Amino acid sequence: MKLLQIGCGNISNAWISVLKRRNDVEICGLVDTNIDAAAKKAMEHELNCPVYDILDKAIAEQHPDVAVDNVLPDSRLEVARRCLSSGMNVLSEKPLSDSIQGAKEIIRLSDEYDKEFFVMQNRRYNCAMLSFKDILKSGTVGQPGYLGAQFFRESHFGGFRELMESPLLVDMAIHTFDQARYLLGKDPLSVYCKEYNTDYSWYNGNASAVCIFTFENNVIFNYTGSWSSPGTMDSYDSVWRAMCSKGTVTWNGLELPRVYVKDPDSDIRHPKHIETPMEYTDCLISGHEGCIDEMLESLKTGRRSGTDCRDNIKSLAMVFAAIKSARENREIKIEEILEVKK
Ligand SMILES: NC(=O)c1ccc[n+]([C@@H]2O[C@H](COP(=O)([O-])OP(=O)(O)OC[C@H]3O[C@@H](n4cnc5c(N)ncnc54)[C@H](O)[C@@H]3O)[C@@H](O)[C@H]2O)c1
Repeated sequence: MKLLQIGCGNISNAWISVLKRRNDVEICGLVDTNIDAAAKKAMEHELNCPVYDILDKAIAEQHPDVAVDNVLPDSRLEVARRCLSSGMNVLSEKPLSDSIQGAKEIIRLSDEYDKEFFVMQNRRYNCAMLSFKDILKSGTVGQPGYLGAQFFRESHFGGFRELMESPLLVDMAIHTFDQARYLLGKDPLSVYCKEYNTDYSWYNGNASAVCIFTFENNVIFNYTGSWSSPGTMDSYDSVWRAMCSKGTVTWNGLELPRVYVKDPDSDIRHPKHIETPMEYTDCLISGHEGCIDEMLESLKTGRRSGTDCRDNIKSLAMVFAAIKSARENREIKIEEILEVKK
């Protein structure tokens, strides 16, 4: 498969280093509107392919099968249109789009040209996440009633994130929201959200938020986090708790999840809980490598990737629903977001 790398900024390092290790793909060119960024990336990764600052020229000269889109969200739709209409499948960074209308248009283009568009959700691809999902599915702890994710970090990024209106919800929460959908295997129905910015925050926009989602079967998902939280730092994968009908699963986002069920011999009024040893699910590859592997296998087998755009729009809708809820100070139904027309 011939791959065209489009966008040669920070995250392209994660993609190029994975792609270079595979023997089923060839990077046939690097494109960046800033040609120096493309040339620098070729040099850093010792790639001999040509570099371009014009996407159309790269497509015309290289006839690639697959586009790797690592551009910023505001260019996602334009790049998708060029690539899908040229007969390429697209493997894209998150987020699927910077708007729901844009995401819908990408899905429409993918249908029209009968080409795939898959989205990077690297935080699904982690042995601990897989184990967590399998524990919930196994029934050991019964039916989930509540899922909580906590994400507090002190991050001084500088640049665009410190200028955005909703840096936490738009730039990061998509990962955690997508993890929640993945873990529960259910879709969200509605959300209440309070976005806020503390007096001591160094962000212009709201760097903190609390969201209460209701999922199918009345499962509650509570997300709370901040980019401007001096002190102890949570994992980038968040700190999780699933309260279920027969027990609880916790995951600190770093090690493996822990499972607690009621001790059958304990007092009914003041039950004791015991940690249950679990079989953990092994995965050979994780993060970007795991997600890229699933994307490429999907292209080979014709089976849609778990992060196909048609599914991923539901994770993106959680972000836009939360922002709308905070702005309008009311509960927002996910349907309202997915049906929005402009
Ligand atoms: N999955 C993750 O964990 C993760 C982590 C960081 C960033 N990201 C995502 O990756 C994407 C890129 O982020 P980044 O940190 O690499 O940004 P960046 O600013 O470092 O790089 C973006 C590059 O794209 C180029 N570019 C912009 N528009 C273009 C266009 N139309 N055609 C060709 N090149 C274009 C820019 O010149 C720049 O070199 C974003 O969507 C971001 O959300 C994902």
